[in-house]
Amino acid sequence: MNRWILPALLLAVAACSPQPDLADPIARGERDFNGLGCVKCHMIGDKGHNWGPDLTNLGFRKSSAWIDQWLKDPHAWNPKTVMPNFNLKDSTRADLVAYLSAQKSQAWKVKPWETEAAKALPAPERGKIIFNSVGCVSCHAKDGYGGYPNNNVAGGLVNSLSKVTEGYSKSELHEKIKGGAVPIPNDSKLPPPMLQMPKWGDQLSAKEIDDVVEYLFSLKPAGSAAPSKDDF
Ligand code: HEC
Ligand code: HEC
Repeated sequence: MNRWILPALLLAVAACSPQPDLADPIARGERDFNGLGCVKCHMIGDKGHNWGPDLTNLGFRKSSAWIDQWLKDPHAWNPKTVMPNFNLKDSTRADLVAYLSAQKSQAWKVKPWETEAAKALPAPERGKIIFNSVGCVSCHAKDGYGGYPNNNVAGGLVNSLSKVTEGYSKSELHEKIKGGAVPIPNDSKLPPPMLQMPKWGDQLSAKEIDDVVEYLFSLKPAGSAAPSKDDF
């Protein structure tokens, strides 16, 4: 081979793509997140596709230990998940965990609930956008119906929110979301539950929490609607 071809090719590649700082695990993790196609299903900031959960503030809501265990084998945590197992090398997984744990919403340029269109919506609809974007949905599932696995909790699932209107006033619900909660282990001899209710007061404003409260209050618990004449 012509001895100039290889160096010329390398130069061309270097000129096209900015090289990440390969000494930095977060930079390597970002490169792999894009290179492995995670962006086909996940958004971070305004990049990617939101077929799966938005990961912009993943590092705020999920611990590194949980992210690591999820990436090792998504089906071991949730047998029903559609997230593929990438059979990642340990070193690649460690870099992805470093990158994802560093995502604490700094990537949001315009928050999806702060666009002009969203600002004009009624509070419950804006609250739904917040619920889905900041990742309440990743633990409490669509419309808060629960169903996501957690370890060492009674019933094995994260709490359903579909009946919070029965147990909470709006201000109590606001305080609960603001302050977070650590679930009580079902068995004190086993490792504590990995999914905890984050302290959202550190991430969301009082107004944003109020919008989420309005959304949760708009979810009617199944079977709670007053019977109408068509029911008989
Ligand atoms: C084919 C689409 C798809 C691809 C590709 C994909 N994921 Fe996922 N991912 C999902 C879905 C869907 C979920 C939601 C899990 C569920 O519903 O059980 C998810 C969940 C996650 C979660 C948990 C999110 C949360 O909020 O709890 C993380 C972290 C994650 N994926 C990281 C990755 C990484 C890293 C890659 C690339 C190596 C990747 N995903 C590739 C579909 C995908
Ligand atoms: C990392 C997972 C996770 C995320 C993300 C999360 N939660 Fe939770 N949440 C939990 C767990 C676990 C509990 C149960 C805590 C306990 O046992 O006291 C809980 C409890 C709650 C409760 C009390 C339910 C009850 O039955 O008393 C409310 C309300 C709630 N979450 C709302 C939210 C909202 C709103 C968001 C988003 C702004 C959110 N959660 C995001 C894990 C999560």
